[in-house]
Amino acid sequence: MSPVLGLRGGGARGDAASTPPRHVAIIMDGNGRWAKARGLPRTFGHRAGINALKRTVEAAPDHGIEWLTVFGFSTENWRRPVSEVTELMKLMKAYVSSDLERLEREGVRVHIIGRRDDLAPDILEVIERAERRTRDNDRFHLQVAFNYGGRSDIAEAARRYALDVSNGQATLEIGEAEFERRLSTAKGPAPDLIIRTSGERRLSNFLLWEAAYAELVFQDVLWPDYGSGPLGEAVAEYQARERRYGGAEIDDVLATG
Ligand code: FPP
Repeated sequence: MSPVLGLRGGGARGDAASTPPRHVAIIMDGNGRWAKARGLPRTFGHRAGINALKRTVEAAPDHGIEWLTVFGFSTENWRRPVSEVTELMKLMKAYVSSDLERLEREGVRVHIIGRRDDLAPDILEVIERAERRTRDNDRFHLQVAFNYGGRSDIAEAARRYALDVSNGQATLEIGEAEFERRLSTAKGPAPDLIIRTSGERRLSNFLLWEAAYAELVFQDVLWPDYGSGPLGEAVAEYQARERRYGGAEIDDVLATG
C-alpha cells in the first residue's frame, strides 16, 4: 500500500526505492527508427521488437521484477497505415501463440488490457486462450496493453461506476480506491517504474491514472536493441531514487521540525 494514498502500491516499501521495482511498465518505442537506420521497412522493426520483448520478459525476474506491463498497441495506433496495423495484429497473435506453451510452463500469468470490442475474432481467441491457460500461474505477471489508451480506460471505469450506481451496487460516495477497482489494471499493483525507450519523453496516453507515483526513466536505446542490460540500468536508476509520495524526506523533517 502506498504510505500516503492508502491505494494499491508497488514495490517500494519504505521512503526510499532501494528495493527493486515490483512492477515495471515499458513504452517500447523506436521500432520504426531502428528499421529506417538499416534501410528496412518499419515492419522489420516491429519484428525485431518482438525479440526484444522476449529477451526482456526472460530477464525481468532476474532483476527482481514481478509484474511487467508493455504497451503493444495503443488506441491511437489505428491511425497508422493499414499494412502496419495488420502487421502489429499478426505479430501479437504470433507472439502469444508461439510463446504460450513456454510462458505457461515457466509460471507466467498473461493479462491483456485494452478495448476488445474492435479486435478481430482470431485475435480475441488468442488473447482469451492465453489468459485462460495461464490463470493459475503466479511466478511472474506479463501484462500486454493492446488496443489500450489510458483515457479510454478511465472513461470505461467511469461508465462501469455509473452503471453500478444505477443498479444500486455502488453509491455516489466515490472514493479513489472504489474507482481504481474498475480500471483494467486493477488485478496488479501500481507501476513503480515506467520506462520509455528511444529518447522520447512522454507518456503518450499510457497508464495515466496508474502513473501517479511511478518513477519515470527515459532511455535512448531503440526498442529492438532492448534486453537485460538496459533493463538493469533502468532498475539501478530507480533504486538510486527516493520515493516520497508527496511527503517529505524523513531527514529533512527531523532537521527542520
Ligand atoms: C513503437 O515504435 C512501437 C509500437 C507502436 C508497438 C510496439 C510493438 C512491438 C514491440 C512489437 C509488437 C508487440 C506486441 C506485443 C504486439 P514506433 O513504430 O513508433 O517507432 P518510431 O517511433 O521509431 O517510428
